[in-house]
Amino acid sequence: MNTHGATITGVGFCVPTGVLTNEDLEKLVDTSDEWIVQRTGMKRRHIVGPDGVTSDLAIPAARAALEAAGKKPQDVDCIICASATPDYLFPALACLVAARLGVPGKPAFDISIACSGFVYALTTAASLIRAGVYRSVLVVGAETLSKITDYTDRTTCVLFGDGAGAVLVERCAEDCFLGSDLGSDGSDPSVLYLPGGGSRFPYSRNGELSAQRLGYIKMQGQSVFKFAVNQMAASARAALAQAGLTTAEIDFVVPHQANLRIVDATLKMLGVPSHKCIVNIAEYGNTSAASIPLALAEALEKGMIAPRSVIVMVAFGGGLSWGSVVWRWQAAPVKKAQPLEPSPGAAPA
Ligand code: COA
Repeated sequence: MNTHGATITGVGFCVPTGVLTNEDLEKLVDTSDEWIVQRTGMKRRHIVGPDGVTSDLAIPAARAALEAAGKKPQDVDCIICASATPDYLFPALACLVAARLGVPGKPAFDISIACSGFVYALTTAASLIRAGVYRSVLVVGAETLSKITDYTDRTTCVLFGDGAGAVLVERCAEDCFLGSDLGSDGSDPSVLYLPGGGSRFPYSRNGELSAQRLGYIKMQGQSVFKFAVNQMAASARAALAQAGLTTAEIDFVVPHQANLRIVDATLKMLGVPSHKCIVNIAEYGNTSAASIPLALAEALEKGMIAPRSVIVMVAFGGGLSWGSVVWRWQAAPVKKAQPLEPSPGAAPA
């Protein structure tokens, strides 16, 4: 028996002003607008400049979510960031966000599970609140995938973009966290991975990293596609079963924006009509852990999601990993923020 419930009280988002169109990509690799639109549904992505970093997007998105909720950083008990592209391997992105919000003493940690990061983080936040550990948890999904995208590889470079979205999750009498399903299968990392920068190919072997282009996303596109199509629908069904709901009771699906064909196939498998799905992939491409909160934020901006709606957020990604959350929406304002100006960061000693 839960003594506390969790609800989302504010949503924020932030996207870079720089835009990379399909036509721009035609100049970089052997591709075409027609191929990209047909195979992915993408037309543009927003990307930071050479000096831009993930915290430039994460901090304004976090601040915007707090402002939307009418709360101050001091009101937050814990900050969780989901990112595959934090500013540093450590400190965690969440520590940087806490410091810039002016609350450096707060618990702050990252969740590293690639594109499934936001649903993992939201599940963690809601569970901490349910358990009575915290009253208020700020969840941020933020990425600068342009930093790890190989713009000489046409099979990956058309897919990825940058952005950040944030939600404030607070204790509430009614529990809006209705169900969740999380999973992973790490048996073959090479299906989708960033080889360099960890202990296997550390940055200290810099020559090897650049010669083999190990600092960029590598992917077996078709394997990921097949995995995604099967796993997203299965995960959404598992989370719905936990919530005691059927697919007919879904008001909105907010899927990870990886490929429009994956989204369409998932909807078909769930038997959910396309007008119940939130899609902004044409404008942003795949922004990994930021994609679900970004899509949610834009749908709220457009006034699409009415209070009491049942929302299914469903993601998949590197791990391989997957996750779904079923959420009862209550009225929560949304706010858009401008990115921070790039800052120098910590300089090598
Ligand atoms: N422009 C033009 N042609 C391209 C291309 C591009 N950007 N990328 C690949 N091609 C070519 C391939 O070389 C291949 O050519 P060939 O038939 O001469 O060998 C052809 O297009 C078909 O390639 P294929 O890989 O079968 O295409 P696809 O329909 O599977 O689409 C993806 C490729 C990457 C768009 C698709 O597999 C996908 O979205 N996978 C999931 C990736 C993903 O979501 N990753 C992130 C997970 S969080």
